[in-house]
Amino acid sequence: MADAPAQREKMLDAARVLRGNTRIVSDKGFRVIVTGKGGVGKTTITALLVHLFAREGFTTLAVDEDPQMNLPFALGIPWEERDRIVPLARDFDYVEEKTGARPGGGYGLMLSLNPDVSDVVERFGVRGPGGVNILVMGTVVQAATGCLCPENTLLESVIRYINLREGEVILMDTPAGVEHFGRTIARGFHHAILVTDTSFNAVQVAVHLAHLAKELGIPHIHLVINRVRSEDDVRKVREILGRSMDLFAGVHVLPYDEGLIRCEPDVRPLLGTGSPFIDRLRSLQKTLVRFGK
Ligand SMILES: Nc1ncnc2c1ncn2[C@@H]1O[C@H](COP(=O)(O)OP(=O)(O)O)[C@@H](O)[C@H]1O
Ligand SMILES: [Mg+2]
Repeated sequence: MADAPAQREKMLDAARVLRGNTRIVSDKGFRVIVTGKGGVGKTTITALLVHLFAREGFTTLAVDEDPQMNLPFALGIPWEERDRIVPLARDFDYVEEKTGARPGGGYGLMLSLNPDVSDVVERFGVRGPGGVNILVMGTVVQAATGCLCPENTLLESVIRYINLREGEVILMDTPAGVEHFGRTIARGFHHAILVTDTSFNAVQVAVHLAHLAKELGIPHIHLVINRVRSEDDVRKVREILGRSMDLFAGVHVLPYDEGLIRCEPDVRPLLGTGSPFIDRLRSLQKTLVRFGK
């Protein structure tokens, strides 16, 4: 059990070892965090971007940081397989078994000195349809803020441990709220995609998150206005934003799309369609590539 003291001690131990073995080599690929208020479309957008990147030949790692763990469904992982996914933070015995390592018994053996996405996926993740790779974190929600609990420390260490090669991209879906910026997990990310719908509250959350992303040193911050039905919607959001618009490298407007409701949770049926929603996402994907890291 993840919350048993011995388990947690082991997690911290593994995290320390991973950290100790992480060489600061600069990423050649890039890391993208998708964040915003609950229900605004983060998981949908992350899943579609992951598939769009994979279709362009990128090696993708989709990271689900949301304890609700619905990114695998959105990516099109079948139910039976989804049940077999063991979140990194839930069962450290499984992680130990995968790595063949025991504390004090040579974690070094499991560690590649220059780990890439495939090393980490092989050990902790699963492969999904369309060749996408998925890492489910199963982050434990803690009442305490600024949580330095072993689970989060381990997750952060695993993510940091990866050295992104050219053509590799990490896209991380997050739970609602701002905690992931309170922890250090988003540090070292190159892009933050802040998703909002046209409601006042969601826009306020996006602005708050943009400030936090900036403080963390994330160089490229993009705003996505989702579920837009009219020009007035966009005008309203721009008015709420006011001077905060300056926080964003660009604004991407995604229209409301009935098709999403029909195919959810699996987003793949939308990929081949010429829907304006997908067109706009494709242009967001191209923007990410253009900015790079
Ligand atoms: N542009 C859109 N048009 C219509 N429905 C959308 C759109 N974007 C997202 N949705 C729907 O909104 C719901 C919430 O989306 P989701 O991606 O789960 O949000 P979050 O991850 O931010 O909580 C889902 O049912 C999804 O299909
Ligand atoms: Mg979600």
